[in-house]
Amino acid sequence: MILKKIELRNFRNYEKLTARFYKGINIIYGDNAQGKTNLLESIYVLGLTKSHRPINDKDLIEKGKEVAKIEGIVNGGLLDKKLEITIDNHNKYFKIDDTSMKKVSDYISNINIILFYPDDLSLLKGEPKIRRKFLNMELSQLYNSYYIVMMDYNKLLKIRNDYLKKMSLGHSIDQNYFDIVTSYLIDKAIIIYQMRYKYIEKVNKYCGQIYQDIMGLSDFHIEYLPNMEIGDIKDSNLKEKLQKQYDEKFEYDKKLSLTTLGPHKDDIAFYLGEKNLKIYGSQGQQRIAALSLKLSEIPIFKMYKDTTPILLLDDVFSELSDDKKNNLMKYISKDIQTIITTTELNNLDPKLIKKSKLFKIENGKLMKVKEVKENE
Ligand SMILES: Nc1ncnc2c1ncn2[C@@H]1O[C@H](COP(=O)(O)OP(=O)(O)OP(=O)(O)O)[C@@H](O)[C@H]1O
Ligand SMILES: [Mg+2]
Repeated sequence: MILKKIELRNFRNYEKLTARFYKGINIIYGDNAQGKTNLLESIYVLGLTKSHRPINDKDLIEKGKEVAKIEGIVNGGLLDKKLEITIDNHNKYFKIDDTSMKKVSDYISNINIILFYPDDLSLLKGEPKIRRKFLNMELSQLYNSYYIVMMDYNKLLKIRNDYLKKMSLGHSIDQNYFDIVTSYLIDKAIIIYQMRYKYIEKVNKYCGQIYQDIMGLSDFHIEYLPNMEIGDIKDSNLKEKLQKQYDEKFEYDKKLSLTTLGPHKDDIAFYLGEKNLKIYGSQGQQRIAALSLKLSEIPIFKMYKDTTPILLLDDVFSELSDDKKNNLMKYISKDIQTIITTTELNNLDPKLIKKSKLFKIENGKLMKVKEVKENE
């Protein structure tokens, strides 16, 4: 998949920007606070409808302006597609080829993006909700059915929690209705568990080798930690098994007015052999763990979406030692569109620069420095 062009209006520090990207490697360099991360963020928002950073949508609008707009031309096969997102202080609006999309689920998963950024360490070190957000974003890119089932699940969860609250306050409720909501919630939970299991299984097929190639250490893998007893995910009695756990937790949940079981409490852990990298990993080991997880998505996207994702690398090279940098560089190929940002061109291999389109960024203005000839 290729992002041919992006246009921004009043997005962060960009009043107006047009960037035409090369189908291979693109490098954007510039000092701190010039807009490198903002530009990559705009691409991420174009694909996934929200930022990778924990912010409000209205922070994406240039200060003092009312409306931000991102427009992109992507090509994932034969035809170009025009994607458009408009963000105002209250809402977001989506269009594909000038047709409004009423539902996010109709819009999402049209561009596949893998983004690395310096704060990726929080994927290992941060709270479980950061890892759940990651799982949700990645699975929504792969399947819009995942996005839909998550939305349904969250709606049911809210209804169940409202009922628990009413019960804890001693209000009478329709017990039948409550049981039906719980039953539906379990149905959705099972689908989410299955999709997450499958995703982690796929990631584990690739991430160990990638970690080994970059870090030189073997036996890296990811463990899925659902907060319910699941056992065999294909068990035909799974529903009964989960129902029993909800029943056992009922009084506890009522006291807290919260549903304490389910995929909204899941987590994942990163292991090197027996060692949990969250606890025992060095910063470098943790950084490469996050990178390996994300790089393992390239073959997964290829398999499920029949196209390569767009790689966005926000200032990742500056944090790595030379040998790790070189090992990672081997994963960057002109067959996958890649956009790299850096403050220092010296951080990058001259051979890589030679085959890349080069841009300089200064105070929200993007300047083309070097093109790539088609036969390079
Ligand atoms: N909503 C906004 N409106 C106007 N300016 C903004 C908005 N949000 C962020 N900025 C500004 O955008 C500028 C560039 O930010 P960005 O994070 O993209 O820089 P960067 O080039 O990635 O820098 P670094 O190398 O330090 O990571 C900052 O000065 C920031 O204050
Ligand atoms: Mg930045």
